[in-house]
Amino acid sequence: MKTIRFGVIGGGLMGKEFASAAARWLHLNFRDARPEIVAICDVNEDARTWFTQNIPSCTLSTGDYRDLLTSDAIDAIYCAVPHNLHEAIYCDIIRAGKHLMGEKPFGIDKAANDAIVACCAEHPDVLVRSSSEFPFFPGAIAMLKAIEAREFGRIINVHAGFYHSSDLDPGKAINWKRMIDVNGEYGCMGDLGLHVMHIPFRAGWVPTRIAAQLSNIMTTRPDGKGGMVACETWDNGSIHTMVESRDGDFPMTLETKRIAPGEMNTWFLTVEGTQKSMAYSTKTPKTLKVMDYTPGAPQAWQHIDLGYASAYPTVTGGIFEFGFPDSFQQMWCAYLDELVNGKSKMYQSLHCATPQETAHSHAVMTAALANAI
Ligand SMILES: NC(=O)c1ccc[n+]([C@@H]2O[C@H](COP(=O)([O-])OP(=O)(O)OC[C@H]3O[C@@H](n4cnc5c(N)ncnc54)[C@H](O)[C@@H]3O)[C@@H](O)[C@H]2O)c1
Repeated sequence: MKTIRFGVIGGGLMGKEFASAAARWLHLNFRDARPEIVAICDVNEDARTWFTQNIPSCTLSTGDYRDLLTSDAIDAIYCAVPHNLHEAIYCDIIRAGKHLMGEKPFGIDKAANDAIVACCAEHPDVLVRSSSEFPFFPGAIAMLKAIEAREFGRIINVHAGFYHSSDLDPGKAINWKRMIDVNGEYGCMGDLGLHVMHIPFRAGWVPTRIAAQLSNIMTTRPDGKGGMVACETWDNGSIHTMVESRDGDFPMTLETKRIAPGEMNTWFLTVEGTQKSMAYSTKTPKTLKVMDYTPGAPQAWQHIDLGYASAYPTVTGGIFEFGFPDSFQQMWCAYLDELVNGKSKMYQSLHCATPQETAHSHAVMTAALANAI
């Protein structure tokens, strides 16, 4: 078992999620490598204290990420900071020769993403991947396998999306994710877009014709200090695209919504084809819907409970349920597998999102901004 020594930059929501995944590494029956968090960088001292108090190996605590880049005790870095910081910090990490798992959207805008992708090309020995964990849900894995086996016949339609609803509450105070200068012009698309586009891109479905409907529903929000401030980010985005295919072009709709009433972290993918259709949603995380079609035969959907059919085996019994922390840990296992074994010798074939895939997502989101109706 090889130990990969990690530094974490950004000890907020996602930094802590990684700490949790690393702490229960024995959950996985993966013996090739394990992460050990040895350093935390955050400008917020409380966030750093959480790490140093909970993780005995985390002995370096600093407010300046450059301290991690000059440390010989660190092999790799997970960077989970606001979007306006991605370009500068990711590029510094890569130039320092540290392996990087960055967070989406991998740059606040296309120019920032272009700079990060160029930096990756200049440092091919550094493994750079973007966090995007939903393809590791069992239903998503099953759909990817069916896509790779070309089981759908001619594709009729693809619908992928990610829905939240907490922003329906007008009393919810603004945070950096609703500020254009920190989150970016993409708004909800930058937050949720790569999650929605990851499997389509892995399938080779990169759209060429793009139009979008974007809405800013809550134009003001409480500032948390008793006043109100402008809230200028897009709340909801529906990106309508056409994908060119040898078998016939098909429409693909990519939805990212922060105000979808009643929804809480609902990620879904539906693929309809002339021979097979499949649908999966984290709203019913056990259940994969499948319809195989033979001309003339009845059209009947099967609802199949999948259980814990993970990419990497774990101690959890196959009949139990799979959830968000599981998908996140499975994604991390894929990152470490690729790091120590190389892409062609991974234990299984589902690797994390590549810088090129983030570049595709920026091309789509930039086109959506330009072609909003
Ligand atoms: N993969 C997912 O499912 C998922 C979910 C949520 C957020 N994200 C992404 O993760 C990233 C972080 O989001 P979050 O929800 O964890 O945000 P967060 O606000 O909870 O955490 C960000 C942390 O970064 C720290 N920080 C700010 N400036 C810093 C600096 N200069 N140096 C060091 N630390 C600094 C903040 O103090 C904070 O603790 C974003 O890119 C976001 O899009 C991914």
